[in-house]
Amino acid sequence: MTGTANSALRSREWFGATGRSGMTHRSWMRSQGFTPEVFDGRPVIGIATTWSELAPCNVHLHRVAESVKRGVWQAGGFPLEFPAMALGETLLRPTAMLYRNLLAMEAEELMRANPLDGVVLLSGCDKTTPGLLMAAASVDLPAVMVTGGPMLSGKYQGTDVGSGTAVWRFEEDLVAGRMTQEECTFAEGCMARSNGHCMTMGTASTMASMAEALGMQLPYSATWPAVDSRRYETAQRAGQVIVGLVEQDLRPSAIMTRAAFENAIRVNAAIGGSTNAVIHLLAIAGRLGVPLSLEDFDVLARDVPTLLNLQPSGTYLMEDFCYAGGLPAVMRELDQAGLLHADAVTVTGAGIGANVADAPCWNRDVIKTLADPFQPAGTGTAVLRGNLAPAGAVIKQSASSPHLLKHRGQALVFDSPAAYYAVSNDPDLDIDEDTVLVIRYCGPQGYPGMPEVSNVALPKKLLLRGVRDMVRICDGRMSGTAYGTVVLHVSPEAAAGGPLALVRTGDWITLDVPARALTLEVSDEELAARAEQWEPPAPHASRGWTRLYTEHVLQADLGADLDFLVGGSGHEVPRDSH
Ligand code: FES
Repeated sequence: MTGTANSALRSREWFGATGRSGMTHRSWMRSQGFTPEVFDGRPVIGIATTWSELAPCNVHLHRVAESVKRGVWQAGGFPLEFPAMALGETLLRPTAMLYRNLLAMEAEELMRANPLDGVVLLSGCDKTTPGLLMAAASVDLPAVMVTGGPMLSGKYQGTDVGSGTAVWRFEEDLVAGRMTQEECTFAEGCMARSNGHCMTMGTASTMASMAEALGMQLPYSATWPAVDSRRYETAQRAGQVIVGLVEQDLRPSAIMTRAAFENAIRVNAAIGGSTNAVIHLLAIAGRLGVPLSLEDFDVLARDVPTLLNLQPSGTYLMEDFCYAGGLPAVMRELDQAGLLHADAVTVTGAGIGANVADAPCWNRDVIKTLADPFQPAGTGTAVLRGNLAPAGAVIKQSASSPHLLKHRGQALVFDSPAAYYAVSNDPDLDIDEDTVLVIRYCGPQGYPGMPEVSNVALPKKLLLRGVRDMVRICDGRMSGTAYGTVVLHVSPEAAAGGPLALVRTGDWITLDVPARALTLEVSDEELAARAEQWEPPAPHASRGWTRLYTEHVLQADLGADLDFLVGGSGHEVPRDSH
């Protein structure tokens, strides 16, 4: 395609234009020192970079972009890097999730408004991968994702420590006196010792795997460590590939089909992925008009065992997963059992089955087989229903304590995590291991943004007695790196007037995961009477993004996208600017 004028390319509307308009578009670009040949009709490839020092998981993406550019030049394209909103999970308050849709909206508009024929999406930290996929879905220009890769394994006192997962454990050890403050401070530096995103099977690793399972990034892209030379080799290859995708006009809508989402849901079960994948995949599907429901995550995953022995459910970390064979080795297992739609097309141009057909596995302790899985089928994310969650809730069974999956207890209710933490160290707190902790007003509207606060730490009183888990119920989310018997994403949320808002301390609640039931043992008449007395909380903001977000955000069971962002607007060239 090098040098051949292609009038079908949308970038020709800018750089191929005659007169004042074309002169303007070309002249200012030449201020960067490009030779005129870049305007000869070659595909213009945008590289959306979510790089920022405020998003440490993505800080190396500027360097990854250089590798992508090499590939684009090699294949005869014209690469142009542009920044898209960087969302750092660990710093952004009240939660990076409040801004996922803003990134998606910003990136969508930038892709459509600029002279781009295709895009490479550079992401890493939790929300950047779904945000960019949502944008690409709504624009539907040829797109390839390159996630930034996980950090190297954390090392502390001769053992591997996983980012996120170890934080929860260290905190409990500190409270229980099993660890000193000095040891804890030292351990902080041992957990994050290279570029990259969390190296447990948290949300970032999960969403990188989802991007690969959907067919939107090249095989093995999810697992190369961020500092591995093959991460950069893959990025360069992605630069070559996107030029070919433009030539073929192979767009996200042809890749992210219902079959691709079914593949992703099954892969998520096989890798013991984060519950956050549920919300993000629903949101991405919503942009494409692909029918997908909360129930699909339960039904499709029921016959898929967990194959991966990775933290937080297991032992190993992403670096081990990479060396054991990476995601293709997992998908090959599924494919051989007929659990993949093998013909779902990917950015390689081939079906996903062909991509993984020869994938080897080098360590069966990390990547198990279907015949000898890490955890049996049906232990993945379960979708619960009942009068406490009429629109659904989820629980990650593999991160839960088996003895709590059927449980009846009395509620102890808090209207925020802060209200709970204000008393959680009180030795006289009226709580025991049978209590069901209810933490509410943490949903999309309620917090706002639906933060990862649902797995509140256990009260000191129980920790000192050696209790390590109890049932918690919340309308918020949980970090993919976390563990515990926590019912999440309760919908509708309390702030929207869902039944969760009507629970009172002392009410009996029954959790029955095998029956997929979550029941508040209060009569309909009593709940109706309580609903009469309920008053919605005051709005969080009178202006700006937070106001727009809280007025338009959908509930978790619909993906928590904004109602007016569902669907897409395509990539028609906008009117001239001058
Ligand atoms: Fe960025 Fe975990 S904080 S991936």
